[in-house]
Amino acid sequence: MAFTIKINGSAHSVDVDGDTPLLWVLRDVLGMTGTKFGCGMALCGACTVHVDGAPTRSCITTIDSVGTSDITTIEAIGATAAGVRIQKAWLDREVPQCGYCQSGQIMSASALLASNPHPTDGDIEDAMSGNICRCGTYARIREAIKQAAAG
Ligand code: FES
Ligand code: FES
Repeated sequence: MAFTIKINGSAHSVDVDGDTPLLWVLRDVLGMTGTKFGCGMALCGACTVHVDGAPTRSCITTIDSVGTSDITTIEAIGATAAGVRIQKAWLDREVPQCGYCQSGQIMSASALLASNPHPTDGDIEDAMSGNICRCGTYARIREAIKQAAAG
């Protein structure tokens, strides 16, 4: 079945089953491999993208549920006001270790900052608790979000 979805400001037409996860479409159909597969069950956050600005697990988001929503992926997050600040802070704080979880971390963090420019520690904890990092970069993630929020 044909679907036209809007990713990073551009329309993309794809021909897949309606229950195909958005993550599969991004990675396997469109070749946008910045968004990662971790668990496939909404448990790890590696696949996080924004759908109309909201952090969304693309592994459980079917293509037929997306409609005309604006989808933003890690490939374009640096073009957003919050995303550019988060990416700079990630570099300044040298947040990543192996890096596998980090695109999802950045997508959740930038969604937080866009909706809440001055998050408390509790806000950060709530927003980031669904993003798992096996390398344990949590302390640097928290500091980077605080740096980005401080401007
Ligand atoms: S791959 Fe989607 S939450 Fe883990
Ligand atoms: S940096 Fe390795 S899993 Fe997070």
